[in-house]
Amino acid sequence: MFLSWKVNALGVDSDCLPRISQIGQAKVRLPQAESPPRILILDDSPTIRYTLKKDLRQMGAIVSEAANGVDGLNIAEAEDFDLIITDVEMPLMDGFTFCAKLKSHPTKNSIPVVILSSRENEADIEYAFKVGASNYITKSNARKDIRDRVKEILDRRSLLNGRTVLVVDDSPSIRNLIDKALKKAGFRVLLAENGQIALDLLGRYLPDLILSDLHMPMLDGLELCKIVHNNRDLAQIPFIIMSSDGDRAKMRQLLEYGASSYLVKPFNIEQLVVTTERFLSDYFGRVLSERKHLEAERQMLIASISSLVLALEARDQYTRGHSESVASLVVDMAREMSMNEGLIERARIAGKLHDLGKIGIRDDILLKSGPLNDEEWKILQLHPIMGAEILSPIASLADIIPAIRSHHERIDGKGYPEGLKGEQIPLLARMVAVADTYDALTSDRPYRKGFSNEEALAIIKKAKGEQLCPECVESFLRSVEKHSLD
Ligand SMILES: [Fe+2]
Repeated sequence: MFLSWKVNALGVDSDCLPRISQIGQAKVRLPQAESPPRILILDDSPTIRYTLKKDLRQMGAIVSEAANGVDGLNIAEAEDFDLIITDVEMPLMDGFTFCAKLKSHPTKNSIPVVILSSRENEADIEYAFKVGASNYITKSNARKDIRDRVKEILDRRSLLNGRTVLVVDDSPSIRNLIDKALKKAGFRVLLAENGQIALDLLGRYLPDLILSDLHMPMLDGLELCKIVHNNRDLAQIPFIIMSSDGDRAKMRQLLEYGASSYLVKPFNIEQLVVTTERFLSDYFGRVLSERKHLEAERQMLIASISSLVLALEARDQYTRGHSESVASLVVDMAREMSMNEGLIERARIAGKLHDLGKIGIRDDILLKSGPLNDEEWKILQLHPIMGAEILSPIASLADIIPAIRSHHERIDGKGYPEGLKGEQIPLLARMVAVADTYDALTSDRPYRKGFSNEEALAIIKKAKGEQLCPECVESFLRSVEKHSLD
């Protein structure tokens, strides 16, 4: 009770902090899915505003604009921005004054500002950084430099903004100083006056970095570092020790106990903020590149399995290209259903791989030109289960398996392999079923010619609610209609 009062009294919005219970056993918090960056441009030249706006919109940014610093401050106060780019010489209020005012604003001071100037002299550049700008770009190089700089600033911001730092120090003045500097840089801060209180906080919150004093009452920085390093859920948090004790042997011992770095007091507060940012950038940069690497591996795996399916279908002129067609139809349906990009991608993969299990079906059944007998039919009906089993060892494709296993289920429960009914059938499987049926109807078979588009659509409409999911049929019909109008 005392602790929670203490944290709140120190100005930390504890509801916004990552709690252990909310993240379960997750070892790493990744940045949230990206929303388009919002950028404000200040320049008195409509031509420059227009050109910059065009470039930034091409980068996917949402752009607002103003012609002077006064209007800029009003807009910055009323809306949220990820970045502000400002000219220097403007009527009413110049870019330097604007930047200095923004940096002293209680809630807007963490927005990075890029100064865009036609002058390239040392004094201006120095002054820009003095008033808090993140970058200084000359107008002659703007088109060339701005994309890279903006991307770099936004990447860094999305990586670091809102990260939580736990500061442990028994000196109220040092806690206060670090608290202010880190908050100004856009971090959230948890404060503790010794290692024991820090441990209590670590039982409830998961910070992204710990900054700890060495000598403290109750539980010192060395013991805290050891405990954190030996805890499975906390060991990955970068731990930086701050102390006036510059003893080398002690520093080595701390590094052995798992400390990431050592800052010798008295330190410059800017140096502490930069060190904090560098550690978090490096750490999350590594996590992001690992995630990109895993995603690249997943894509390669999908490409390899898709090639197997293509090779399987290529042996039979009647099924050649079937899975690609189904994938394309399911993607159209997913877009029609306003699914997000992640679900659309999942739909594409499910469409491509839905008949993967046919790899396990004997050729004399799979390539038979005449109708199948009962026994052969039963064997062919095993292909959804076989497809699911082939993919089951691949953890990164686990979200596709239900669609593959259930793509021959029917809404009325008369499908296979499990006879699932209605919404017991995963949505993606119901979507694949519609696309699969349409593509099969419009394709030639050894024993019949393919139906025309109109005939196939009439059959699909008739199957709505018995064989096929009504909502999926409706979205399929809408997407077909849309494409016929294109
Ligand atoms: Fe199938």
